[in-house]
Amino acid sequence: MVNEWYKEAAVYQIWPRSFKDGNGDGIGDLWGVLEKLDYIKSLGVDAIWFSPLYPSPQADFGYDIADYRDICSDYGTLEVFKQVLDGAHERGLKVIMDLVVNHTSDEHEWFKESKKGDDNPYHDYYFWRKGKGKNGKKPPNNWLSLFEGKAWEYDENLGEYYLHLFAKKQPDLNMDNPKVREEVKGIMEFWLSMGVDGFREDVITFISKAEGLPDGFPLPAATGIEHYRKGPHLLEYLTEFQNDVLKKYDAFTVGEAPMMTPERALEYVEEGKNQVLNMMFHFQHMNVDCIGMNCIRRKFKLTRLKKVYNDWQKKLYRKGWNALYIENHDQPRIVSRYGNDKEFHDESAKMLATMYICQSGTPFIYQGQEIGMTNIHMDSLDDYVDVAIQNDCRTLRKFGFSDEKILETENAISRDNARTPVQWSAKKNAGFTDGETPWFKINPNYKTINVASQEKDKNSVLNYYRKLLKTRKENPVLIYGDFEEHYKSSEELFVYERNYEGKRALVICSFSPKTVTFRAPAGFDLTAGKLLICNYKDAPAKPSICALRPYEARVYLYNA
Ligand code: GLC
Ligand code: CA
Repeated sequence: MVNEWYKEAAVYQIWPRSFKDGNGDGIGDLWGVLEKLDYIKSLGVDAIWFSPLYPSPQADFGYDIADYRDICSDYGTLEVFKQVLDGAHERGLKVIMDLVVNHTSDEHEWFKESKKGDDNPYHDYYFWRKGKGKNGKKPPNNWLSLFEGKAWEYDENLGEYYLHLFAKKQPDLNMDNPKVREEVKGIMEFWLSMGVDGFREDVITFISKAEGLPDGFPLPAATGIEHYRKGPHLLEYLTEFQNDVLKKYDAFTVGEAPMMTPERALEYVEEGKNQVLNMMFHFQHMNVDCIGMNCIRRKFKLTRLKKVYNDWQKKLYRKGWNALYIENHDQPRIVSRYGNDKEFHDESAKMLATMYICQSGTPFIYQGQEIGMTNIHMDSLDDYVDVAIQNDCRTLRKFGFSDEKILETENAISRDNARTPVQWSAKKNAGFTDGETPWFKINPNYKTINVASQEKDKNSVLNYYRKLLKTRKENPVLIYGDFEEHYKSSEELFVYERNYEGKRALVICSFSPKTVTFRAPAGFDLTAGKLLICNYKDAPAKPSICALRPYEARVYLYNA
């Protein structure tokens, strides 16, 4: 196992529209980021990942790109971006861009050209196909879009359909066309030569589609997914990007990988073998309270969560590297989800942070997570702005859900929960904008949950995150140690130990809202270990036993 900067790093994710408005128009932007660089640095992170900053019609809030080599005017200009890049680098923060190349916007020049006719040089940049049936009025196959209805949209003028796995405004790029791959490499070069440090690669595992685009097994949603979730040329294309561009710059990469398993992840991240990505974002730990899609819910079960972690921790150890996250712009807020955002807001937010940050891997922290921002409660489905909701509604109606039930579901799982403006202070508009109207609803709890008040409180969630990240940095055992679980069948406790170069750490996390008795595993004396961190003010214990208060977390360090 090689020690690398990215293994020791922690990454902060910015979803620009809701991070901080710097010019008063109600939309977050790069001027806002400039104001907050010191704050970001103060968290103890080492890099910033920007969700898409590029020009975009915002049909999927930037994940529909109209120009890969510029900055959206809502967010600033290339000049401001360069200031952010320099400002970040001066502070020792790396900058990671979102690379969205499974699809473009339908307003991208390539797509506009491609629509002009079969003989246009850009036609083959996308999947244009004739329809089936007598008069060609049936889509080329039965695939369903992950966002809106069928995966095919008809173009009257051309008399052909184009493929869109996501929204209609997100036509899929034909990565089998070598010219498209050259474009992708050109985009990578553009940003890397400017000084950017790497990429988070959006749904990168979907870029290769099965030859002939065959019909999929009919499912209530995502029909066809077996034909692109691990396409035939994926490894080949990733290898090409790695060898032709990324390697030259020693660029950092993390690939988003829906439905990924640890066994398969090793095909892309194994060190000294096929390391075409540094790490992958899998979804298995986000699937313990739902089935396949977030909107098909089931009860959270701790043993299910632990099994996923145990699997990834053990199977990748000394071979690949884990990306650790519990929130991002596609997931609801974790404290409202696996924690308790009512009586034990602070305790559970801190426990969840400990639970994942002390594992082996690179932790990612999503804006607002560090203060324990919660889900927002909407009174009507119309208040949601995310395009993905349409598919949820379609799917849930198929299952006979009423609109009332759908609203209840969205309140729990919608991606919009993560996209409300960051709560900077108790002032007007949560200090997010000096303008009158923020672009999106602000969570009414900003008066109690905000950065300014947590800065002043040494026991706040914010200061706990700082301490935790510092603790991780200072203790290589928490970065490079192995992972051994205790009490695997407990539905209340998640307990694991890490071992590395003569040090041993014991991580104890309670998921219970009640007090739980904890017996130290054999070989651990709770009074002899050094308490590295705890989410309560004190940590009383006898050598082999202690009472864990609701959502308590402790980390002890020992000499092995
Ligand atoms: C990824 C992004 C998500 C986006 C989708 C389509 O899953 O994280 O926000 O909607 O890809 O680009
Ligand atoms: Ca703005």
